This record gives sequence, C-alpha cells and structure tokens, in this order.
Amino acid sequence: MTKFPDRSLLDDGDLPVVGLARLASRETVRPRDAYGAHKWFARRLAVTARSLLVAAGTPSDGSFWKSYYDAPSYEGRTVLDPFLGGGVMVLEASRLGADVHGVDVEPVAAAISSFQGRLRSLPPLEPVLARLCETVGSRLAPYYRARDEEGCEETLLHAFWVQVVKCAECRHEYHAHPQFRLASDGIIDKQWVVCRGCGDINQAKKDAKTVGCRCGVRTTVSDGNMDGGAGVCPQCSHHQKLIEEAVRTGAPPSFRLFAVETIPSGPERRFTGAGRKIRAASSFDRKMFADAAAAAVAIEAETPGAIPPSPLPRAGVMDQRVL
Ligand SMILES: C[S@@+](CC[C@H](N)C(=O)[O-])C[C@H]1O[C@@H](n2cnc3c(N)ncnc32)[C@H](O)[C@@H]1O
Ligand SMILES: [Zn+2]
Ligand SMILES: [Zn+2]
Repeated sequence: MTKFPDRSLLDDGDLPVVGLARLASRETVRPRDAYGAHKWFARRLAVTARSLLVAAGTPSDGSFWKSYYDAPSYEGRTVLDPFLGGGVMVLEASRLGADVHGVDVEPVAAAISSFQGRLRSLPPLEPVLARLCETVGSRLAPYYRARDEEGCEETLLHAFWVQVVKCAECRHEYHAHPQFRLASDGIIDKQWVVCRGCGDINQAKKDAKTVGCRCGVRTTVSDGNMDGGAGVCPQCSHHQKLIEEAVRTGAPPSFRLFAVETIPSGPERRFTGAGRKIRAASSFDRKMFADAAAAAVAIEAETPGAIPPSPLPRAGVMDQRVL
C-alpha cells in the first residue's frame, strides 16, 4: 500500500476548480459509458469523484494535474460511500484500485451501482444488442418514423406532449404549456418557441425575448399558459389546478402530441449533430402514435398480461403526486 500524504491537496482545499469545471462540462455532453448503463437521477460526475480521490492522495506541494492523469494508487485501501446513489464515487475509487463498499436506502441505486461494478466481468454485449435490434428493434423501428408536412422522411428522436385543458369558465380549449420556450441551445445560439396563437414551432436566436410567427402573432418566450400548478385560460384568465382536472371532469386528462425532435432518416449514426430539428407535429407523426397504440392493444389481445394490468402500488410513496 503506497503511503498517503500527511497533508494532502484535499486538506488544503486546493483543487483547480476552473479546469475541472471545463472537464465537467464536457462530461455532461458525453457521459462515460459505464454510467450510461442505467439512468439515475442527480448522478455526480466522474470528474468530481476522481478529483476528490486524486486530491486526497496528492501531497500539499504536489501537482494536481500530474496526479490526475497518473492516478494515485488506492491499492490496499478501502473506500465506503454510505449514500452511494448512482455509484460514481465507488466506481471511480475502484478504478484507482480501492476495495469499495457502498450502501443506499434506495434498492434501485444499490442495484445500479452493483451492476456498474460488474461491467468489466460481463461477456461482450454486442451479440445480445444485435439480437435485440433484430427482434425487438425491427418491431419498434416502424413507429419511430416521422414525416414533416412537406413529406420529408425523418427519424423520431423525441416526442413532446402537452396537456389539453378546457376552461371551466368560458369553455375555451387551450394547451397548458408551462413556458412557450420549448428548448434552447447556447452552442448554436438558437431557441425553439411554441406560437401562442397557432401552436407552430418557431426558431429564433437564443436570447430573443419575443418571437413572431407567420400567423401574425408574436409570443413572449418566457410566458406560458400555466401559473404554478394551475392552467391559466388565455381567453378569460381563469385559473384551474391541473391536479384536480381528472376528478372535476370525471375523465383522464388529455394530452396532445404537439412537437417532435427528429433527424434525417437513413442508416443509424452514433452522433446526430447538425441534422436535428424541432418542429410542430404533423398528421403523419400523430398517425404513427395512433398506429403504435393500436399495435399495443393488439399485443395485449394476443398475449393477455403483456402490458402490466395492475395499478401502481401506493404503499411507501410519501408524496401526493399522481402515479
Ligand atoms: C446525492 S445522492 C449520493 C450521490 C453519491 N454519493 C455520488 O457521489 O454520486 C444521495 C443518496 O443518499 C441516499 N440516502 C438518503 N438517505 C439515506 C440513508 N438514511 N441511508 C442510506 N442512503 C440514504 C439516497 O437514496 C441517494 O441515493
Ligand atoms: Zn402562429
Ligand atoms: Zn376561459
């Protein structure tokens, strides 16, 4: 076991946070593969965990960056994370040679972290993936086709849905957008904004405060048809809480597919980059969803129980959010 310094860079709090933030911002765009094995909320970045471990193993007068890339050895040491969450600290520590232990009150966190730790000893997953693409993928792919109103063929990346609300006061029907700005991208200096008049999606420079539409209506991007959890009628300003909609109307809330993010269709590429586009959903896009819904009904008829029938259990759920 290599000797650890009496006084380390971590004791001094002497970490190059600006440089680490630069690495961190790259890691958020391209997360390390191991942490892509399973989604977990609020997962810390590997850069964060590694820099703390490295700083603890580097003497006060040592060079942080040399140590960061050479990696101090944790061989023979034990690292415990009693709140391991997405398991970043334990996996990074094990990469430096530590014997690691983790605990979490949330069993899913424990299962994910344990799986990440076993990745290296798994057989290659490519043949399994290829088989999944052939079997499941070939059945799902037809529903991920998209087509804009000009008839241009695309592949669906994301589908955006919004709750449709009927005003309890004046009966006007509206879309409960929390904000008309749907997305923004600082790197290409763009934002995508829903027109409050016709629902079309318009592109503008990222910092534009208002955006015009070919329907003649101008939309303030930070506005929306919601105030906290309540829908606000654009005609009469009546407020109604969306969480009470189902009870008030006696029907499930209704949602509409209003926008899609797509890439040009063609052979699958790992990096989708410049071809991405966000646009209003077309009648073809809505038909794709209807076809998928019909296929799900057919599958359930063919194999009863294929879609889990039971209500989600409420036992142990601490808040009142709709399940
Ligand atoms: C912010 S996350 C931890 C992040 C993790 N240490 C990392 O570096 O990526 C906090 C975790 O603590 C867990 N937790 C909260 N209370 C706990 C308790 N009493 N015992 C064990 N785990 C707990 C939560 O389930 C959550 O996964
Ligand atoms: Zn418009
Ligand atoms: Zn109204």
